[in-house]
Amino acid sequence: MAKLKLCVFISGRGSNLQSLIEACADDSYPAKIALVISNIDGIQGLERAKAAGIQTSVINTKGFNSPSSVDTSIIEAIKSFNVDLICLAGYMRILSDKFVDHWQDRMINIHPSLLPSFKGLDVQQRAIDAGVRFSGCTVHYVRREMDTGPIILQAAVPVMNNDSAETLAERILKQEHKIYPLAVKLIAQGRITIKNECVLIDGAINPGSILINPEA
Ligand code: GRF
Repeated sequence: MAKLKLCVFISGRGSNLQSLIEACADDSYPAKIALVISNIDGIQGLERAKAAGIQTSVINTKGFNSPSSVDTSIIEAIKSFNVDLICLAGYMRILSDKFVDHWQDRMINIHPSLLPSFKGLDVQQRAIDAGVRFSGCTVHYVRREMDTGPIILQAAVPVMNNDSAETLAERILKQEHKIYPLAVKLIAQGRITIKNECVLIDGAINPGSILINPEA
């Protein structure tokens, strides 16, 4: 079966990109990365892509007169790669409504909280300040409003007594690296449907082992 073609959008370290690169290195994984796009040059994520032999493109906002014209240029850059799915992985730029609508149900994001709690930035510190016992991460389809959209997978981690934003972020990140490749795999296998803006996996809200053990 043909592999699902991914385009990964990054702005920094690229550890989630790395987790996708490693998943795709397995011949039996049903997706491959066709292109990596960054809005910032010189970042670590671009080095990771190059080391894996993946084509990269830096599209920043310089020389464009509107965010929407940047997005038009991204759509053009992607066109020839026949991309099936866009994976936002720490892409720190707001995409225009036009772009989001164009990629409706074909663009996903990873966020380091249990959405719909703690959208936006600085989420680990905000989780600690709110006194929640659990935080985690969420992979979701992208909708116009930031950090909203049908939830595909989540993983929860405990918040410990002496956590700093950094230690909590580290605990969450380990789970991000498991659920992002798993979510992509489920999509590539055709096991995801969206009904009333909720994701069903194998036709169910909770298909058992997948949600209880992200490694299953
Ligand atoms: C991750 O925590 C991701 O959830 C958030 O931005 C961070 C990106 O980290 N959207 P990395 O660049 O993948 O290492």
